[in-house]
Amino acid sequence: MSEAASQKNTVLMEKIVSLCKRRGFIFQSAEIYGGLNGCWDYGPLGTELKRNLKDYWWRKNVQEREDIVGMDGSILTHQDVLKASGHVGGFSDPMCDCLLSKARLRADQIDPQSGTVYSYSGASHEESEWSVEREYSVLLTEGQDESKARKTARLYYSQFLSDKQISPKKIELAGESTEVVENTTRYNPENGSLLTEAREFNLMFKTHMGASADGGDESSVAYLRPETAQTIFTQFKNVAETNRVKVPFGIAQIGKSFRNEINPRNYTFRSREFEQMEIEFFCRPEEGMALTDEWLERRLTFYEEIGISRENLHVLDVPDGERAHYSKKTYDIEYAFPFGIQELEGVAYRTDYDLSKHKEHSGKPIEIFDDETKEKLLPHVVEPSAGCDRTILALICEAFAEETITNEKGKEEVRTVMRFSPRMAPIKVGVFPLLKNKPELVAKAREIQQMLVPHMAVFYDETAAIGRRYRRQDEVGTPFCVTVDFETLGESGDELKDTVTLRERDSMSQKRIPISELRSFLLDQIA
Ligand code: GAP
Repeated sequence: MSEAASQKNTVLMEKIVSLCKRRGFIFQSAEIYGGLNGCWDYGPLGTELKRNLKDYWWRKNVQEREDIVGMDGSILTHQDVLKASGHVGGFSDPMCDCLLSKARLRADQIDPQSGTVYSYSGASHEESEWSVEREYSVLLTEGQDESKARKTARLYYSQFLSDKQISPKKIELAGESTEVVENTTRYNPENGSLLTEAREFNLMFKTHMGASADGGDESSVAYLRPETAQTIFTQFKNVAETNRVKVPFGIAQIGKSFRNEINPRNYTFRSREFEQMEIEFFCRPEEGMALTDEWLERRLTFYEEIGISRENLHVLDVPDGERAHYSKKTYDIEYAFPFGIQELEGVAYRTDYDLSKHKEHSGKPIEIFDDETKEKLLPHVVEPSAGCDRTILALICEAFAEETITNEKGKEEVRTVMRFSPRMAPIKVGVFPLLKNKPELVAKAREIQQMLVPHMAVFYDETAAIGRRYRRQDEVGTPFCVTVDFETLGESGDELKDTVTLRERDSMSQKRIPISELRSFLLDQIA
């Protein structure tokens, strides 16, 4: 991406974040206390949007299917579950710290750099008789002046000064030597400073349960689940035995997951608390590969159905060596966010890895009886695992638009509009009386509001000029607005009596519609 395009996308992202805060979609968690990094609170409109997404996902993947059932597992997870799944020993990222800025970086995400390393053995300050012996080095890439290496090293050693009044410039460096290096990842790309060796950093939130928790009793350790999937695996046998299901069948779950991400970033994209929408689809071994392809197509269709255009979706067929060791096939469904093409969902063929691990660690038989083959079966599993918050962010990015229009007074203005599909839009219809000081108009508008509220989210508004009211609804993505005017009351004759103006958000076109047809028209649009 060119510098200009990247700048444009940064500005776009800032506009999106600002609108989300201004109109009550998303707030930073504990903002009044300075914010809780990596955690977000959804405001009234964000909550409606999220609810619409989750409801639609549930409807498509559970209610409309005979072969998938739902469950809702606990967030607090038994340590043995996560030992069996490999999360306790292995769910970690390699991390290193910048010795100068203390920034923590994912070691595997540092781009290799080449240049000259300037190394030092220590530093001193003669006047105060201070000295420190400690090895440190700085990487200079092509074109950087050697004075930068010395300045960076002095800043580093100044951390150890007991007298903080001494300027880093007065520090003498000791034992300077240089070496040309290629493709090193040992230095911070931001400032050239040496990094610590990479250490494994477990991403799970650990907690203690019960009365023995204070005593540091290891048996009281529990975890906040890092994925919803494991509750599905551990309840697989219970669900299968109580629901007369036959392979292939799925168990679906929507719920919170927690990961102590090192660098939460890109707004809600990488959070420490987030929601997942996961299906574990259990099948016979020979069905796994074909079902993975089937699920990929089904999931792509789902994204289109909620208003994400196919051209902004990318499919990555994760190559051998980059997939989880137990996965025979994985597709990442990615979205072109303003900050780059990034993963929305993984569709993975996980073989029988999870169930066999739980069988082994629990010592319990998990197999089910396959009616068709008349044999015991430990099913394989295909897992479409979507991020709810990431999908919300994609919906918001996809919907956001600014366009120049000519307003009612003939002047050009910028219209901000969220083009949510009616199915996902937080508010489905705005209902307005043309004037708020005409009791008959207000009464009729209230009547229409009451008629619609049992069926959809309605917003009643009687303040400001009608054009302003339309713009306010455009900005939050309300697909339709209904205005009650004098024609509705029959003041221009019987022909338009009991009709209202229906204004469509994207085209801004207006038409008359009988009040009696309004509910079914809107229900058709938002289904
Ligand atoms: N059970 C499989 C699993 O959890 P994953 O790729 O780690 O796989 C699945 O996560 C989805 O969960 C991701 O595609 C993403 O949408 C979402 N997700 C994962 N980590 C996230 C985070 N830190 N913040 C927001 N969403 C996240």
